[in-house]
Amino acid sequence: METTHQLGRYEIVAELGRGAMGAVFRARDPKIDRTVAIKTIAVPGASATEAEHYRQRFFREAQAAGRLSHPGIVTIYDVGEDEAAHTPFIVMECVDGQSLDRLVAAAPSGTLPRALALELVQHIAEALDYAHSQDIVHRDIKPANIMVTTGGQPKIADFGIAKVSQAETTLPGHVVGTPAYMSPEQLNGKPVDGRSDLFSLGVITYWLLTGVKPFDGATLTEICIQVATKDPTPPSQIMPGINGNFDYLLARALAKDPVMRYQRCSELAADLEDLRAGNTPRSIAQSARTEVLARAERTVALPGNATVALTPRPSAPVAAAITAPVPQAAAPMPPRRGKMLIYLLVAAVLLLAGTAAVVASFSRSMPATLQIVGQYPFREGKIYIWVDGDLRYHDELHNSSNPRGKSSHASSGHESLALTLPVTAGRHTVRVQVDAAGQIYDHDTAIPGLFRAYSQKTLMVNFASKNLELRWD
Ligand SMILES: Nc1ncnc2c1ncn2[C@@H]1O[C@H](COP(=O)(O)OP(=O)(O)O)[C@@H](O)[C@H]1O
Ligand SMILES: [Mg+2]
Repeated sequence: METTHQLGRYEIVAELGRGAMGAVFRARDPKIDRTVAIKTIAVPGASATEAEHYRQRFFREAQAAGRLSHPGIVTIYDVGEDEAAHTPFIVMECVDGQSLDRLVAAAPSGTLPRALALELVQHIAEALDYAHSQDIVHRDIKPANIMVTTGGQPKIADFGIAKVSQAETTLPGHVVGTPAYMSPEQLNGKPVDGRSDLFSLGVITYWLLTGVKPFDGATLTEICIQVATKDPTPPSQIMPGINGNFDYLLARALAKDPVMRYQRCSELAADLEDLRAGNTPRSIAQSARTEVLARAERTVALPGNATVALTPRPSAPVAAAITAPVPQAAAPMPPRRGKMLIYLLVAAVLLLAGTAAVVASFSRSMPATLQIVGQYPFREGKIYIWVDGDLRYHDELHNSSNPRGKSSHASSGHESLALTLPVTAGRHTVRVQVDAAGQIYDHDTAIPGLFRAYSQKTLMVNFASKNLELRWD
């Protein structure tokens, strides 16, 4: 009964699933009595020359991907070719588990528990970082390509395959995959590097956390336009319990321009680790610029502004002072040649849509920075800062230059406050509360402001007047 159920030396046991390029089988390697997964890769409609070109490319890519060895990556064991049909196949680690899309679909609430989602994404980011460190880009990071073992370990499948399959998209009618997870540069046919995979992982993260795809549409063209121009709704506006730190993380992962993203998946992984622990992401904290500049001589001149009556004391512990780190450009990988016909058409549409991207410079998925400066005359107090109702910063203020007994208004006794917080572009209301127990500064003031993408906006806090005053610089 073995009939055709053999590929090379491998004995086919069962079909595990089917994708755009062919079937995946569970098989047995009799040589070492090991269960493996085998994926056959067919290109329907290819001419003999194309098929040969494609075969060679496939083996080259599989060879590169075969060098990867990481617990978060499905290991490639072997490649081969069906003798009769000359269909190439790839032999890999057989994962006992489910793909991420099926795992989510099977979840009773339709989404994974947040803690699990964050843990999975962190491990995927670490595995991707490893591959990128070997100069290998996946190019097709999507939930169907993340296998999750029954033990809960995610493993990225299909390394080295996307490059081949996408190269074949010049073949008429051969459409591979969905653009919903692809980066803007990839859809534009530009060179891609690890930051493109990082964007795709950002799309997955957004979807896992909110249950909503950031870029969605009825047609490929619609999705492509969204990827190129749409700024996804900040996740905190979709899901309760998600705070501004998540907005920040996703705004950086999903930035249209790779230069504005996290530059490495390890940075994303580190921030995820912090979020999981309920802390401020370290990319924020590392570039912290909370500088309480002792004995600053500078006096900040501050005209008045509106004041608002005070309310509740914040309780949530939050945040060190922060600034969005300046990203560095990484060397791009060589460009790929072939492209899906539809993507060429879409590229033309995107050119037109480019204008929309300019209009979007205030849009809320892009990062911006809020800087807060001022000089406080009192000896001891507390400061609380909210952005749109979320407590984003609080700290004790100590004035070491103002020893006991000295007038709290002595100009030489002023202490400077300078801190930065990452925000998304767009309109935000910043609220500052200063509580200097028993002194005159027990006030709460709010001010609205419009933040341009990638820019810093400075808020001057005047402690010197009777009421706390806020003014944009
Ligand atoms: N290494 C593997 N181990 C176990 N199952 C796998 C493995 N690779 C793929 N599969 C299963 O086969 C299905 C089809 O995979 P594939 O052909 O890559 O299509 P897609 O990635 O588009 O779903 C997957 O959804 C998965 O359930
Ligand atoms: Mg796959």
